[in-house]
Amino acid sequence: MIAEEKIIEIRERASIVEVISDHLTLKKAGRNYLGLCPFHTEKTPSFTVNEEKGIFHCFGCGVGGNVFHFLMRYEHLTFPEAIERVGKRYGIVVDRQQRPEARREAEEREALYRVNERAAAYFHQALFAQAEGRTALAYLKSRGIDEGVARRFYLGYAPRRGTGLAGFLKREGLSLDNAVRLGLVSERGNHDYGERFSDRLIFPIVSSAGRVVGFGGRVLGEGLPKYLNSPETPLFRKGSNVYGLYQAKEAIRAADRVAVVEGYLDVIALAQFGIGYTVATLGTALTPEHVRILGRFTRNIIALFDGDEAGRKAAARSFEIFIDAGQLGRAAFVPKDEDPDSFVRARGKEAMEVVLDQATPLADYAFSWLENRYGTSLEGKSEVAKEIQRLLSKVRNPFEADLLARRAVDSLGISEDLLRRSAASLGRRGNEPEPKKPAPPALRSREDLAERALLGLILRYPSMVSLLAPVEDIETLCASHWRDMMGRILTEWRASGEIDPGRLTQSFPPDQAAEIAALMLEGEDVPEEEREKALSDCVAHLRRKYLRNLETELRRAIRIAEETNDEKAKRERMLEWQEVVRRERQLDRQRLAAKTHSP
Ligand code: GTP
Ligand code: MN
Repeated sequence: MIAEEKIIEIRERASIVEVISDHLTLKKAGRNYLGLCPFHTEKTPSFTVNEEKGIFHCFGCGVGGNVFHFLMRYEHLTFPEAIERVGKRYGIVVDRQQRPEARREAEEREALYRVNERAAAYFHQALFAQAEGRTALAYLKSRGIDEGVARRFYLGYAPRRGTGLAGFLKREGLSLDNAVRLGLVSERGNHDYGERFSDRLIFPIVSSAGRVVGFGGRVLGEGLPKYLNSPETPLFRKGSNVYGLYQAKEAIRAADRVAVVEGYLDVIALAQFGIGYTVATLGTALTPEHVRILGRFTRNIIALFDGDEAGRKAAARSFEIFIDAGQLGRAAFVPKDEDPDSFVRARGKEAMEVVLDQATPLADYAFSWLENRYGTSLEGKSEVAKEIQRLLSKVRNPFEADLLARRAVDSLGISEDLLRRSAASLGRRGNEPEPKKPAPPALRSREDLAERALLGLILRYPSMVSLLAPVEDIETLCASHWRDMMGRILTEWRASGEIDPGRLTQSFPPDQAAEIAALMLEGEDVPEEEREKALSDCVAHLRRKYLRNLETELRRAIRIAEETNDEKAKRERMLEWQEVVRRERQLDRQRLAAKTHSP
């Protein structure tokens, strides 16, 4: 926990231009600074930084936020770490208050790490020891792995004989209880310990921070089980660790992409052939957590599958996993009957890179898989649309949702209208709680121009909020996605009499913070004398839209009342309808008057 005042102090002291300039080159352009976006590949700068407001935004890929968001993304830091980092740069010390239990927990974990790390060292030296490691080393050679790579991945060997790991740890004065907790040894009673790994090649599994969290052990040659892994421990969960990330980090950054394969030995083979940006899942299917971890390093994640039917199916299934992690993901395939290891050995680095270059969006596999499943009949298409709509509703980045909607429309011949109607019918499934965001931004963006324009105006010219204050129902008028944002901006203004971009971006989740940054920085400058008119135009537009929707609803209610002979309801709805129509006319008259009066 870091005290709120501390966060504010640091944010206010920091210059976002300075901090970002530590990492990339910014050039002044009018009121903003421009640079090449570090979060996607681009040739002309669309990465915009505004010093006054303390925010950044990329018009190319949509990322944005304040100085902390930048570092969280760029340096893969957590929020508290980003605060500390900025604080440090400006000489502000952040002391994180640590509860005593938290400290004890940290110490316990440290002790566990220590055991894992000594165990890794033990296995590693055994691999290169004269007598015991010989067969293991020979096996590695037979698989074409040279010593340099073996050292880089800190490979090891668990000997069959000798006093074993338990004896080694005991001699080092380390707790065998911890080794038991880590699944390295098992107590057989009477201070006798059995080894988990015996006569196996050892692959230490290292976290992205470089700590040994667990081990995989392969038999030398044939034998079952082929692999034995560490059990789930306080340090190790299969679903949230990837193999090889620590070694791949720099290469991932340099290539701005990562290939995800299945096997330990695929990672090692590719690394040996100079494709260092490769990681593997740990004998489990990819999880959103895996994707999220990799997403801290690049947005270019390529899942490399086998070229058979199972591989295609896995690709189709992975799409939702990526979406759940806020990514799109691409798939590449090695030819049938090959795996990445055999392929790179047979065909070499360039051929492997060509395969990766040709990676296709996972969406394509997911969409065509749906088409295969449901067919192209009218009903089939409607099922496909529903399913796509369900997937799209999970996509939080508006740019990506837009992209996907267009892809679906183009590749499946499903009309945008059908997608939209599926969105509506999804929304009406009575028993489900209303999703936070009813329709994906792609399908909503055109209709939300007025909301965007209005929020943009008050974010860029905060004093205009006072003009909105008398419009009591302004939140109601906004489409639901924007309602919450509008409400919080107004609340902030009522409470403090100002709109502080730094604080605002802080109080929203990252993707909404990015949206706010976008609204603050996009669009032309509106000349002062035109702002008020622009604002009232937006409000009028929203009100017209709101009344139009209300009118439609009421007409439907009246029809239903008529069909069910509910005279009372009918009378009431009629009166309401007349009132709505009256207000619509009134608005129209005002618009007309404004037109004839303006030059
Ligand atoms: P080689 O077969 O020696 O080339 O190893 P590999 O790493 O390429 O393994 P493979 O493609 O057969 O399997 C992919 C991954 O699945 C492995 O790296 C392991 O993480 C996991 N795996 C394979 N076999 C077993 C097993 O018998 N038990 C467990 N727990 N995991 C396994
Ligand atoms: Mn293999």
